[in-house]
Amino acid sequence: MVHGWTNLSSSVDSIFLLIVGISVVLLIGVTGTMVYFAVHYRRSKHPRAENIEGNLVLEIVWTLLPTLLVLEIFWVGWKGFVFLRTVPKDAMLVKVTARMWSWHFTYENGATSGVLILPVNKPVKLLITSSDVLHSLSIPAFHVKEDAVPGRENYLWFQPAVTGSYDIFCTEYCGMGHSAMVTKVEVMPERDFAAWYSTAQGQAIAEAARPDGAKLFAEKGCSACHSIDGSPKVGPTLQGVFGHRVTVLTGSKERQITADEAYLRKSLIDPSADVVKGFPPIMPPQKGILTDAEIDALIEYLETLREHGH
Ligand code: CUA
Repeated sequence: MVHGWTNLSSSVDSIFLLIVGISVVLLIGVTGTMVYFAVHYRRSKHPRAENIEGNLVLEIVWTLLPTLLVLEIFWVGWKGFVFLRTVPKDAMLVKVTARMWSWHFTYENGATSGVLILPVNKPVKLLITSSDVLHSLSIPAFHVKEDAVPGRENYLWFQPAVTGSYDIFCTEYCGMGHSAMVTKVEVMPERDFAAWYSTAQGQAIAEAARPDGAKLFAEKGCSACHSIDGSPKVGPTLQGVFGHRVTVLTGSKERQITADEAYLRKSLIDPSADVVKGFPPIMPPQKGILTDAEIDALIEYLETLREHGH
């Protein structure tokens, strides 16, 4: 049996098991003694209570034993904590940016991804921050979790031990799209990773010059709230939106407009100016988050989302 998906799993699990073990022994001991006393000293057998004046040996035992147990729990906990916070020098760096409502990973060579792609058996250090509100990066299979705080860089590290695909969740409530703020870790063999790593670097360079709207749509979190198949999510569907008439609320005034390039551009930069009727005004403004080239690419992409049969 594989013991855990990372090198951390066994260390976290063993401490957890130790504490559970101690708790079970104490539970059985205390409950057993209680039941024994209740039966042995029942009223029919012991009609008159005795006054016990003290027992030095017993008192030393019940002082010393819990003290040693608590110190032991502290010691293994401390050793585990130091291990979790001490990053190996050769760890690979990946920057993690959380935003409403997606995860974005940037590698040392400039490669970017919406999925955390990692080589197996290599330590990795994640530098975690947020571009808007509090989020929290959690990889349950790896036993790791760390808050993403705007204006601050938190870190965690681990070494994946088994190739495969694992869930990443946001575990700090961050608004309407919180539950949709999910992605994956893909742990692959070293060779596959190296191939992806250099390809992704090339792509990143090409995309900086000419961004890909469809990719941005997924990576920048648009798809968490907007479908492209006509179904409503947190936000209106973007299928066939381009050039279509929509009813919007400007302030509290209802009006009809055409979702042309100017409207879509404005809706990206200042989403709460004209909100599509029936949807909450909760989209975070993308000003300063998306580059002009990225906004152009996204609008170009929206233009391709024609309705079927049109
Ligand atoms: Cu991001 Cu919850």
